[in-house]
Amino acid sequence: MNAATVPPPADPLAAVPRRALAVRAATLLLLLLRGAAALAAQTAVGILRRDMRTRRDRWLVDLVTRLGPAFIKAAQLLATRADVLPPRLCAAFARLYDGVRPAPLAAEAGELRDSGLVLDRGSDGVARPVAAGSIACVYRATAPDGRRVAVKLRRPEVARRLAVDLELMRRGTRLAARLPQLRGLPAVAVVDQMTQAVHGQLDFVREARFLAEFRANMAQESGLRVPAVHPELGHDGALVMEFMEGLRRREPHEFPAGVRERAVLSTLRGIYRMLFIDGLVHCDLHPGNLYFLPDGDVVLVDAGFTVRLDERTRRAFAWFFLQMTVGDGKACAQIVLSTATPGPRADTDGFTRELTALVEANSGVSAADFDLVTFGASLFDIQRRHDLYAAPEFVFPLLSLLVLEGTVRAFAPQVDFQKEAGPYLMKAVFGEAFQPAA
Ligand SMILES: Nc1ncnc2c1ncn2[C@@H]1O[C@H](COP(=O)(O)OP(=O)(O)O)[C@@H](O)[C@H]1O
Ligand SMILES: [Mg+2]
Repeated sequence: MNAATVPPPADPLAAVPRRALAVRAATLLLLLLRGAAALAAQTAVGILRRDMRTRRDRWLVDLVTRLGPAFIKAAQLLATRADVLPPRLCAAFARLYDGVRPAPLAAEAGELRDSGLVLDRGSDGVARPVAAGSIACVYRATAPDGRRVAVKLRRPEVARRLAVDLELMRRGTRLAARLPQLRGLPAVAVVDQMTQAVHGQLDFVREARFLAEFRANMAQESGLRVPAVHPELGHDGALVMEFMEGLRRREPHEFPAGVRERAVLSTLRGIYRMLFIDGLVHCDLHPGNLYFLPDGDVVLVDAGFTVRLDERTRRAFAWFFLQMTVGDGKACAQIVLSTATPGPRADTDGFTRELTALVEANSGVSAADFDLVTFGASLFDIQRRHDLYAAPEFVFPLLSLLVLEGTVRAFAPQVDFQKEAGPYLMKAVFGEAFQPAA
């Protein structure tokens, strides 16, 4: 049973010194002011050259990159939401998935010599990453036994910068949570858990363990691949794994329809197994971490933002999803009521009535017609209006689906994602003994 860990017990962010926070807040302000000046200049040139939008997009990506890894993370998340942001902007932010400005070769690289790894170098003798994410850069290398491996090296300074920014976000949320508009939303608890989970991405030993666990779990599904980990070659700042060939972001039109659908179905089965069976959830399956190969196989990388659901959350989420697929809104309401905390004016009847209507309206619809953002927002809104305080643990299962939703919709909008969940939900709710009919 998964007795551990949402959130991790220690709170490393609370240890960030006040002075560091004040200095960083001032720096951010300065960066924003400078950014505003740059925007004014770009707008002026853009009007003259009639390429204002392109310039503005480039400016925004550049600003986010300058602000640092915590902001890059947020932009990556937003880039999956073509329904929330203009698609043009999503495309601009999408460059941040794996094309963040590469860092200078980290000090950690020196320590790699102990393990006998040799990083590939260009003709000029410089090792260049094959891809660069917000936390790390990934290099190609050769192991002492000749195996080709991927080496994920943490960006220099990222640990300190990320901790400071996350703590600033946390304090900002505490202030904002006093606004009456945010009453009833578990904003502080959610941001606390999120920031701790994002901070967990710095720990490569933990990530290596999760990656190995995902590999074992996903091996039980067909069409899903996760790189093997070589822990004996890595250390805390360097994760060494099997090199996955052919990882390139591909557009839907690059695949025949059947292949596209197979890739989406494999992905959905993978996430359902994570959510409902294993309780080990990859919360960051944006297109920089989830790749569709030309043959329809799917590669998952980057287990940095991974959360283990506790048993109660996993089961409650599975029950909710199950009742939703059969359109039983009353049962859904019961599940939420059993996890939420009632306020002094809680109206459970009104809540049940409205939630039932919401579930009935959304039961059995295809990916194209279902909108998780609207659904989630309505769910929270109904709770708030009836004075019920939502349990923050559900943020991770919801987040993992939110990040994936854009991809599913772009690649196979006709997929009945609720039906696909069926066998996993049965197994989650009724246990291992259940075998779905073939
Ligand atoms: N095992 C691998 N083989 C080949 N490329 C990889 C591998 N793992 C990661 N990458 C590439 O490196 C990029 C950055 O790695 P990732 O683990 O996602 O770092 P970050 O945590 O900074 O996002 C990925 O988006 C992917 O393109
Ligand atoms: Mg990544």
